[in-house]
Amino acid sequence: MNGTFISFEGIDGAGKSTHIDSLAQSFRAQGRVVTLTREPGGTPLAEQLRQMVLNDPMDAMTEALLVFAARRDHIRQVIAPALARGEVVLCDRFTDATFAYQGAGRGFDWQTLSVLESWVQANPDQSGRLVQPDLTLWFDLPASIAAQRLAGARVPDKFESQPQAFFEKVANGYALRLAADTERFARIDANQTPAAVWSDVEQAVRSKGFL
Ligand code: TYD
Repeated sequence: MNGTFISFEGIDGAGKSTHIDSLAQSFRAQGRVVTLTREPGGTPLAEQLRQMVLNDPMDAMTEALLVFAARRDHIRQVIAPALARGEVVLCDRFTDATFAYQGAGRGFDWQTLSVLESWVQANPDQSGRLVQPDLTLWFDLPASIAAQRLAGARVPDKFESQPQAFFEKVANGYALRLAADTERFARIDANQTPAAVWSDVEQAVRSKGFL
């Protein structure tokens, strides 16, 4: 796997979307082939599962199993082949979101999520390494500010309509994931102007030698 895999994380309203597009442009300007994708989703099957996860009420275990089922299909059909071709994969959310939302947010068992992670992300190339992002940009924004940004922005889905306390737990989940893997993570202060956030994003990617 010679490609570059970057994931984007944060609570709803943290403002990662525009920066994903900008980063795609930066890579393309250097002649790299970029696959822009998202989770849950990224394949026809996984997009169907996304609709269920985002709209239908279900318990936290069902939710975790569906997002990991979607992820398995996404890795096999899209992510692993693109990385094997040496491309850049920019993924709007990945497994850290499952630990943050289903684990910390909804209270599903963290250890079980780790087991699912090791099954689902087993590398198709049999190397024994897991398919993991080379870099995860965590857009960190206080839940109170994210709530203001989301208010009235659009019709909220199942997660976006959760109370602020839920997003405080989700943010704690991201902080735990960062603490467990500081090499992979870059924390981006999302409570700044878009230009300042972009500058930090570029800096984080450059310091890894990817741009
Ligand atoms: P999001 O990425 O915010 O997309 P959009 O900008 O289109 O709303 O929406 C995805 C939602 O799914 C978000 O609320 C987080 C949630 N989610 C999980 O709960 N678990 C997961 O594993 C993933 C990938 C996402």
